[in-house]
Amino acid sequence: MEPGEVENIAEADFLWLKEEVNRIHHKNRQVGRADWCGFDFDFTCPSTGTYPFQWFWDSCFHAIALTHIDIAKAKAELFSLLKNQQPDGFVSHVTFWQRDFYEEMIATYDIAFRSRYLSDELQPPLLAEAVQAVAEHGGGTEFLGEILPSVSRLYDWLHTVRNPYGDGLIRVIQPDETGLDHSPKWDEIMEITDEDHASWVRGWHSICDPYDAVNRDPNAMIAMNHFVVADVMLNTIYIENLRVLAKLFLSIGDESSHLKYLERAVLARNSLERLCWDEEDGLYYDVNGKENRKIRVNTVSSLMPILLEDLDEEKFERILKHILDPSEYWAEFPIPSVAMSHPTFRPNTVGGNLVWRGPTWMCSNWYLARGLLRHGRRDPALHIASQSIELMKRSGVREYYNPLTGQGHGAEDFSWSTILIDLVVSLKKG
Ligand code: GLC
Repeated sequence: MEPGEVENIAEADFLWLKEEVNRIHHKNRQVGRADWCGFDFDFTCPSTGTYPFQWFWDSCFHAIALTHIDIAKAKAELFSLLKNQQPDGFVSHVTFWQRDFYEEMIATYDIAFRSRYLSDELQPPLLAEAVQAVAEHGGGTEFLGEILPSVSRLYDWLHTVRNPYGDGLIRVIQPDETGLDHSPKWDEIMEITDEDHASWVRGWHSICDPYDAVNRDPNAMIAMNHFVVADVMLNTIYIENLRVLAKLFLSIGDESSHLKYLERAVLARNSLERLCWDEEDGLYYDVNGKENRKIRVNTVSSLMPILLEDLDEEKFERILKHILDPSEYWAEFPIPSVAMSHPTFRPNTVGGNLVWRGPTWMCSNWYLARGLLRHGRRDPALHIASQSIELMKRSGVREYYNPLTGQGHGAEDFSWSTILIDLVVSLKKG
């Protein structure tokens, strides 16, 4: 199917999707009380089979999807996520609420821990967007008043602890903090030359084991200057979220917070342009270390700044060319996580369970299609949405899909894939 062939998502497909969203959030719902912290929890886990805990960016996607079916549940998702926020403002990328029932599963994870039940890693910070969605769908000012203090403490933590060079961009210190765990972007730093899961694990330990020696002190980990990456996708999301946060504060009449987050957005936005834009390739690349060395690997991350409203039209057009190129990103089922022309592109999972090395994911489709809409390109956005529905109808609501054949892979009934409903709703609004 080519862009422009369909005018909108069929009502029957929308209703089918809505049913699936309901079914999955019901199936994957985790409700209970955790004795280790004395808090109740109520959230959707990514998948009961492989990921029964609460993941940070997954939960933000879940909350946005839930605003279309159950606003109370959407709120509960976010409040559960923030229950174990640390005194310094940090929020773990995984809260292991029910860890005691899953010891065997945990043994297979490579994750850094802050405590037995909380990880010591961040994930892409789309919390402000999730809060905005809940507020807009009936959460109201009271909800904002209740949640914004915690939300701003997280963004303040990011700015204070993970902006080591003062340029406003957030640095991640290990690959899984980007959410794009096994992306080939990291192969060189991690010295991965094959596609074996064991090599990735070795690479992960080569980065993270030295951190234990300094008790995972943030400044000491950054000073090692080995894996200190300004990831383009994560920072695009960060900039967008600073802007959203600024707007939310304005809506409750807090002018000084509004200005504070807008200023941070401007700083990070300028640095993204200065450090990450590559004029030669017409793409944005991550940079590593205090020397800001470019990581020139063409992945979905490089396209992400089209989300930004103020991206200039010339740069947008250059990125659009990559997106619409059938040899790069315009696959039968767009948008693959690595350019198909890149030597590391693999349409299926490789090396056991190495992810983000080629397959199509719903969360990046959601961001990129919204970026296309913001720049007035409805046809390709609609094409991405209808092919995404087609993927689900053929292969179920999976973790990721082969962009060439549409075959589903990874976890089944994977919760964040339900974010597609948000894109479909905005397309239907016209
Ligand atoms: C995988 C993904 C990560 C996600 C997690 C739970 O590790 O790479 O981004 O948060 O699964 O779904």
